[in-house]
Amino acid sequence: MDLGIEIKEQGKSYSVNYENASGWSRSLSRLVEDEVVFSMRDARELLKKGDVVIYEVYNLWKTLPKIRELSEKTGINCDVTVLNHGIISTSGSGELFFTYGHRHEKCYSEIYSLLAGEAFLVSYEEDRKRTTMTHMEEGDEVLISPTSIHRLYCGRKGAVVVGLVPKEAGHNYEAVKGRGVPYAVFLKEGQYEYPKNPKFKDVELELSDASKGRTLEYFFETPDEVKNLLGMKSL
Ligand SMILES: [Fe+2]
Repeated sequence: MDLGIEIKEQGKSYSVNYENASGWSRSLSRLVEDEVVFSMRDARELLKKGDVVIYEVYNLWKTLPKIRELSEKTGINCDVTVLNHGIISTSGSGELFFTYGHRHEKCYSEIYSLLAGEAFLVSYEEDRKRTTMTHMEEGDEVLISPTSIHRLYCGRKGAVVVGLVPKEAGHNYEAVKGRGVPYAVFLKEGQYEYPKNPKFKDVELELSDASKGRTLEYFFETPDEVKNLLGMKSL
């Protein structure tokens, strides 16, 4: 699917370029300030070397004409998150870079599609005391449940993820602030580990693999189907 953006590989991370690009970035210092990292000690040690950009979010629906038109017609936002590869530690082992995480204010689903790299989607269902960790490779999609707290971790490479979500869904960051998520993704000597966050009690972890999807194509061809998938009323 050609979204009209250029993705470039830069070491283990990626950059995104397109005309009139507009977006925002989040740095490690903010994640530390809000205490959403697993090891505050490791994060503070790393910060002594200087702040680092963890991820950038580009609002394609604001500036790319074709997507803006579709977004206005459907009420669906289309954003791209560029999550850099990195480890929050000075030792080379520790928690991988991640997005802050949030819950939607209104009961709508969201679709994440991985355009490049490798990622894990953490989805925490608070009522069911269950966390699902879904491994994503290029071309994979995940349908995020409307009530979950969700966060992305990078893998051995960074990640470029496109998200489709109703404009009205909203972001509740308070659900994550001061505690993070129940399970983190660590990289230790090249191997993934999923340590449990002691701030959460009795939460189960389920590991799964994502599957390939074509929702991005459907967004352009049959957007009403995507609206149904996200829990919106069709036109
Ligand atoms: Fe979301």
